[in-house]
Amino acid sequence: MNVAVTDLKPRARKASAGYTDFEHTGPGTLAGKFMRSAWQPIQRSQDLPAGRAKPLRIMSENFTLFRGESGVAQVLAQRCPHRGTQLSAGWVEGDTLRCLYHGWRYDATGQCVEQPSEDAAFAAKVRIASYPTREHLGLIFAYFGEGEPPAFPHIPAFVGEGRVEASVEYFPCNFFQCWENSFDEYHVHFTHRTGGMHPRYPQMPHMTYTETEYGILRRSETADGKVRLSPFLMPNVLRTIVPSPNAMQGHGPSVRDSYLMKVPVDDHNHVFFISQHVRIRPGEEAVYEEKHLRYLELRAKARPPHELGLEILAGCLTLTDVVEHPYLAVIEDVVAQGGQGTIADRSQERLGRSDTGIIAMRKIWSREMRAIAEGKPTKQWQPLLKMPE
Ligand code: FES
Ligand SMILES: [Fe+2]
Repeated sequence: MNVAVTDLKPRARKASAGYTDFEHTGPGTLAGKFMRSAWQPIQRSQDLPAGRAKPLRIMSENFTLFRGESGVAQVLAQRCPHRGTQLSAGWVEGDTLRCLYHGWRYDATGQCVEQPSEDAAFAAKVRIASYPTREHLGLIFAYFGEGEPPAFPHIPAFVGEGRVEASVEYFPCNFFQCWENSFDEYHVHFTHRTGGMHPRYPQMPHMTYTETEYGILRRSETADGKVRLSPFLMPNVLRTIVPSPNAMQGHGPSVRDSYLMKVPVDDHNHVFFISQHVRIRPGEEAVYEEKHLRYLELRAKARPPHELGLEILAGCLTLTDVVEHPYLAVIEDVVAQGGQGTIADRSQERLGRSDTGIIAMRKIWSREMRAIAEGKPTKQWQPLLKMPE
């Protein structure tokens, strides 16, 4: 299908005062330094089997990701320093990676440990960059900042019986407008209207945002007295209750305790990692597993949500045309957030009462970026130790 050209290019930006360049996260940028001060998810654990190497792009930088045969995930520099080819095409041997061009071999620390055609003393002088990794909640995390990484895990495991399911979705726009969407509870009633999941004109809950030692605590209270607490960890993790993808097809438990994380690939693309706690009633494991596998089959056959979202923005399709898609909610989010432009133009926006959370979060980001720019200490964000009550 031909896709019409859409208005997804960054629009002209007014120079804005203050530390408000939240969008650019490449090396040396203020937002990039803030993001690199925290562990970032880089891949689902299940997508990196032992013995596999892959290219990795995050925050406009390229790396090599591989899992050694002992099962440990490793991140190394993108290129072999001999003549510069991409290491991800090489061979995993034990817990080392061998370059496919001339066979130089690197261990998990980036130290060159073998050079088949060179003098024995040369290898000891060659070392490439390596980055700390950890695994938690079905995801591989890496640390790309300076100095020692912060405490890990920075987010507590889910409590109680059940299993963890991780998913990842690609979004063709800047990560920050989607991180802002995490603070935007009101959008669900409109953006996600097509599938009939939400009432059309809801009562706005009363929301407050309080800065904490880990980030921001959002408290929302509806007119009937229901209170919901959602912790936001700086710079980019939300813990909240959201519908599961398969609930939308009637294939599983309807809502799940979840971590949502948006991570830049570069300034125009990002990935959305979701780690969810699936509570399955005792005795219903086999029934759930069968439904879940059926859902995964549906997903495998369906077109990627971001492609459909772009076609809707181009006017080739409507949301009604894709209402049967097994992850309609992501298409809807791609349409709403990608529709802001590849990089949203904040100089033109008109914020209102419902944007209080976005404003609060931007102020904190701005304050931290200013401290980084001025060489002053930033806030030492603490891990979330337990869910607030
Ligand atoms: S480029 Fe890697 S060994 Fe030559
Ligand atoms: Fe949404």
